[in-house]
Amino acid sequence: MEAGYLLRTGTPDDAESLVSFWIDAAENQGRPADRPDDIRQLLERDPEALFIADADGEIVGSLIVGWDGWRFHLYRLAVRPDWRGRRVGRALVEEAERYCMRLGSRRIDAMVLEGNELGVGFWEALGYTLQPDWRRWVRTLT
Ligand SMILES: CC(C)(COP(=O)(O)OP(=O)(O)OC[C@H]1O[C@@H](n2cnc3c(N)ncnc32)[C@H](O)[C@@H]1OP(=O)(O)O)[C@@H](O)C(=O)NCCC(=O)NCCS
Repeated sequence: MEAGYLLRTGTPDDAESLVSFWIDAAENQGRPADRPDDIRQLLERDPEALFIADADGEIVGSLIVGWDGWRFHLYRLAVRPDWRGRRVGRALVEEAERYCMRLGSRRIDAMVLEGNELGVGFWEALGYTLQPDWRRWVRTLT
């Protein structure tokens, strides 16, 4: 274990605790509420899609990676408040970048809420730049 935590792949057994973790640690504005079944569905589709930073069995960081065979997308980067500033976020993203390279993809994007200053500063520090001419268009199916 490095720096008091390890990086591991998330499993369906993480679903309940991950939802609780996100309530405290994630940027929760502007999206539907999370459900454990959504995480189970994600991992059924792609068992490699969830990266967890784990400190003695507790989730202290998360990142979802979405590889669709075309582009590589990052979602739900979150670090528990008392673990921030210890490069857990960087470790999660760099692990995802290595995974992305192994898959043969070279283009990564991250969803960042407008006005999320924690997120903006972080992504800039990691070398990501804003594409100002693009907007995401969404529709929630009911
Ligand atoms: C954003 C977040 C994941 C960063 O996690 P973290 O573990 O504290 O970040 P790290 O310690 O790995 O920081 C990595 C680098 O980013 C820099 N950084 C982190 N947050 C920063 C900020 N708000 N402003 C400027 N730089 C920042 C660090 O100084 C560090 O730089 P270095 O490695 O070159 O010295 C964390 O603040 C968080 O969970 N925020 C709430 C959820 C959120 O907003 N997620 C992002 C969604 S897009």
